[in-house]
Amino acid sequence: RRPQPFTMIIFGAAGDLAHRKLFPALYNLMVDHWLPHQVNVVGFSRQPFDDDAFRAEVEQSIKQFSRQPLDPNIFQHFAKGMHYITANFNDPEAYVELRNVLTRLNEEQHLPGNYLFYLATPPAFYPIIAEQIGQVGLNVSPSPNGWVRIIVEKPFGHDLASALELNAQLHKVFEEKQIFRIDHYLGKETVQNILVFRFANGIFEPLWNRQYIDHVQITVAESLGIEGRGTYYDTAGALRDIVQNHMMQLLAMIAMEPPVAFEADAVRDEKVKVLRAIRPLSTRDIAMHTVRAQYDEGYIEGIKVPGFLDEPDIPSDSRTETYIAMRLLIDNWRWAGVPFYLRTGKRLAKRATEIAIQFKKAPHRFFSQTATPDLEPNLLTLKIQPDEGIALRFGAKVPGPIVRIRTVNMDFLYGTSFADQAPEAYERLLLDAMIGDSTLFTRKDEVEAAWTLVNSILNGWARAKGPIPTYEAGTWGPPEADELIARDGFRWRRP
Ligand code: BG6
Repeated sequence: RRPQPFTMIIFGAAGDLAHRKLFPALYNLMVDHWLPHQVNVVGFSRQPFDDDAFRAEVEQSIKQFSRQPLDPNIFQHFAKGMHYITANFNDPEAYVELRNVLTRLNEEQHLPGNYLFYLATPPAFYPIIAEQIGQVGLNVSPSPNGWVRIIVEKPFGHDLASALELNAQLHKVFEEKQIFRIDHYLGKETVQNILVFRFANGIFEPLWNRQYIDHVQITVAESLGIEGRGTYYDTAGALRDIVQNHMMQLLAMIAMEPPVAFEADAVRDEKVKVLRAIRPLSTRDIAMHTVRAQYDEGYIEGIKVPGFLDEPDIPSDSRTETYIAMRLLIDNWRWAGVPFYLRTGKRLAKRATEIAIQFKKAPHRFFSQTATPDLEPNLLTLKIQPDEGIALRFGAKVPGPIVRIRTVNMDFLYGTSFADQAPEAYERLLLDAMIGDSTLFTRKDEVEAAWTLVNSILNGWARAKGPIPTYEAGTWGPPEADELIARDGFRWRRP
């Protein structure tokens, strides 16, 4: 799985994402010997740096964010391949300069001309950068055996129309197989394990359907607030920020049919199919089966935190949701009638992402009610983060001369079973893009299917007037969300 020598060009190299995620991921891949001997990184950003200032910036980022300590020898080698272009993203001259830099590197190092572009800029620049790359012919490798790929960060569009437009703009310059739309959730080990758990084991798949599953709860809870990202977050909200991408991916992996092969298009075909099978929400469904809310002031780990409307850069009349809960149905043979409940929020009681699959009760109540006062239905919980693992809840006989049954757990913990530190999501995804494997990247039709659902909710909400519900920071969300699920006779899990 070692990529061929290549040059990575990071647009927005002076930005936060590059600093926190990309440089540390590249460095870790290098330390772990996943990279070819020669890697060039060309930073392209508005911030004025020269090559040395750029190298110092990368060094700082690795020291602060890498999971492995900085080794001066490895870093020195890494730094030799670093270059920087200070430029505006819409300046055609800068792209000519970029082409000259790349040509020079190819000649000096006898490289085949493999380019990995990374769009880590504000999204408004994505189409501009793609077009400029096309203008100078860098969308095609200078050598017949070379490759050119482009990684596109989230958010991918702001609604369905803008996502369609962005796809069209990218497609003017790149072919679909060159485009790698990133969703960092797919880089998480526990998310990749969903497919392994389902399809590498014989015992779960026969139960994985409407005959045995009662309902599914998907939770992405964060205790963090908006972390100084007010300007972005106010235009996004939880539905766009988390549901459209990360939660739709979790749902697709849990609900998809087995692909015919573990290969990019086969996997993504099945994901698209299930996303398209989600029942569209009518205006009435949106009123009944979605709840949005904003956090109010409260306490996180004993520390007082402000409400959303008092956060920097948030207008005092903002109606942006920091929490959403909803019920979805999937109209296909496997899932007909099985509700999927999704919820996500900022400033909730704790950080926890999990998928809980609740099974139906035993068909016949064989043990008396007195033996089983607290017996709960079987529950399989895939703990995505933190405390990664899988738990299965079942009833067991309490030792003693009478029959009493209590609910117990069978637990698998990553931390106990696997000694090695897991790589960061970006490490896996960058490596896949370097190799050209797009299984863990979102295809055009997948992103459009996810937006179709999200767009209908946005439109439904746009018609509703008045303030939206609130919840106290540090709690599990608004009472309206409890009512949403209670109407069907269930309650939310407390992770
Ligand atoms: C990002 C969102 O995509 O995912 C953030 O923009 C969110 O708002 C983050 O905090 C959550 O990622 P993780 O890996 O911490 O679950």
